[in-house]
Amino acid sequence: MKFIAPSILSADFSRLGEEISAVENAGADWIHIDVMDGRFVPNLTYGPIIVQAAKASCRLDLDVHLMIEKPDGLIPDFVTAGADLISVHAEACTHLNRTIHLIRDLGARPGVALNPATPLSAIEWVLEDLDFVLIMSVNPGFGGQAFIENSLDKIRALKQIITQRGLSTLIQIDGGVNGKTIATIADAGVDSFVAGSAIFGSADYRATIADFRDKIKGNAKARD
Ligand code: DX5
Ligand code: ZN
Repeated sequence: MKFIAPSILSADFSRLGEEISAVENAGADWIHIDVMDGRFVPNLTYGPIIVQAAKASCRLDLDVHLMIEKPDGLIPDFVTAGADLISVHAEACTHLNRTIHLIRDLGARPGVALNPATPLSAIEWVLEDLDFVLIMSVNPGFGGQAFIENSLDKIRALKQIITQRGLSTLIQIDGGVNGKTIATIADAGVDSFVAGSAIFGSADYRATIADFRDKIKGNAKARD
């Protein structure tokens, strides 16, 4: 199964509930919520109250991407607010193993995000504990940036490790996903596709998500 996760970072915040319902009705699988603290990344966004508002606006799983330093203190609040999946950055956690287990013990599905410059070795000893790995294909902080091409090699290398170890860990990609890049990204082995500007900046969310699915499937067929 492949998951399309629209990032509300590019939604119209004056109509956030409607925007979330619109992507749910357009066929989205998860809602991706980018939490930024102005320290780990040079931008500030939103906290648990927006997760709570998103929970009230749809039935989809909420995929909360924490771009914040030392997130442990806030994780319980995000779970209480309705986060189903929570990713933390390897670069932002002093005790990554502890943070991952905190997320799972609270009942959410843990993921670890890696910045473009961070090697896969950062998750070597926690991979078995994760539901997903988020490969950042832009430097986190802003929507609408260009896809960093060598992320494809990183995805292929991660896919190989997951297969070798016999794991079912999902690979998520975040940054620069659009109609031009998604087929190649899917072919590299990605399971979950975050897209902000390419979905919320389009005129027809349903058509954009359908086009993404066609391109993901097209590549699966070409391989078989
Ligand atoms: C960037 C965020 C992304 C962002 C992606 O720091 O993590 O989720 O919304 O935006 P696009 O899809 O526009 O590259
Ligand atoms: Zn994100």
